[in-house]
Amino acid sequence: MADGNQVHASWDREAILSLFDPASGRLDRRIYDDEGIYQLELQRIFARGWNFMCHESQIPNSGDYFINYIGEDQVIVVRDGEGQVNVLLNTCRHRGNALCRAEQGNAKSFVCSYHGWNYALNGDLIGVPGLKTYYRGDFDKSQLGLAKAAKVESHLGFYFATLDPAAPSLHDFLGDVGRSGLGMVAAYGDVIVLDGIQKNVIDCNWKIAVDNLFDWYHVMYSHASANSTGFVDLAKILQPDNQLVMLGEYGHGIGGPGIPEAMQAQLDMIGDEQRAEMSKSTPFRLRPASAKDLMGATGVRSLGHPNIFPNLWITLNGMQLCLRLPRGAGATELWWFTVVPKDSSPEQRRNAVRSATHLFGPAGLLEQDDGENWSQSTRASRGVVSRSLGHNLQMGLGHDQAIAGPDGGAAIATCISEHGQRWLYQSWTEWLAAKDWADLKANHSAPPQGTV
Ligand code: FES
Ligand SMILES: [Fe+2]
Repeated sequence: MADGNQVHASWDREAILSLFDPASGRLDRRIYDDEGIYQLELQRIFARGWNFMCHESQIPNSGDYFINYIGEDQVIVVRDGEGQVNVLLNTCRHRGNALCRAEQGNAKSFVCSYHGWNYALNGDLIGVPGLKTYYRGDFDKSQLGLAKAAKVESHLGFYFATLDPAAPSLHDFLGDVGRSGLGMVAAYGDVIVLDGIQKNVIDCNWKIAVDNLFDWYHVMYSHASANSTGFVDLAKILQPDNQLVMLGEYGHGIGGPGIPEAMQAQLDMIGDEQRAEMSKSTPFRLRPASAKDLMGATGVRSLGHPNIFPNLWITLNGMQLCLRLPRGAGATELWWFTVVPKDSSPEQRRNAVRSATHLFGPAGLLEQDDGENWSQSTRASRGVVSRSLGHNLQMGLGHDQAIAGPDGGAAIATCISEHGQRWLYQSWTEWLAAKDWADLKANHSAPPQGTV
């Protein structure tokens, strides 16, 4: 379904690959503003890749649905009578009307508000007013069911969908680093996602919001005022000299504080109860021993931020997820999902929501700082001279060693750096340059080893 063959006239493979130079860290500012690039992203990244849809706890019963997006294609994620999760394009096959207008709910079927066509939960067209009278029986309902995602799969209860039938399995797409990132959410036990997704639009390109999650350089400076309120102790979280960056195939990454190997070896020798007790005196929730099964031996040492390429951020301790949905080259809609333990009390859930809304989202102490910087970075990169200057992502370049972890991917133990951002943009150029999955599989970079 993803049409990767329509290349905007000015963006052939060579031009795309030149947008980021991994050897110098120079990034072309046009990637945040150019309409041709934006359209290519919708085709070659969002329609081609696996996109996070929802968590299984959001649609437990037959008829439960949740509205999401694949790029700018709106989709209905719905559980049908057989328990199967379908991802249906939310556009009527008659005249294109959006079928489902609520953000989530329960339905027996989806009836179009324009002329009344009725679709089953699996997308089949089951009712057409005037079939005999106006169409005079000359109509084949079987040809006009809702368009569906090519593949829908889940990992640890997180559902993803792709529009491209040639995409690899979700397991292979995520690779060790992507699976480790989702494992971070599930590491403490069964979780649910609470109703009420916080949504807001920021005037910035979606990639600026994404690359910021690897950016631990800005934390003490941008968020100085948030820190001074005492609501968060950023100095305790930051650990500038104990950073662990993980780079995964197809652009996944995890960046931020890490547990040094020697310390992890000590943790491995103590029980879960003692770990829980120790967690009370740190901003990190030390994970139970079983987390290693979900996150791998390297992943379990990460206390940072995973990004499942292209746009799913998992926050510290896996307590929130954030989708950065593109709304044109110059706007991004942020969707904040709050995660709580399945067995949490009503009071614990209220506290989780309170903490989530105070940190991120439009009223969050941290995101008010971030959003302003992202929007101004997008705007101030747009002028005809400004956009020729390039962005600088050279921090740490050539000063660190990437080693292949026992779990695959690459791991870099370092201080604060821009390795995560460089890997994101290098992978992004490769996704954009490849004309289809076969091309991407053959021509993308493996996570680096040696000097990075
Ligand atoms: S547009 Fe949906 S029934 Fe006509
Ligand atoms: Fe920030």
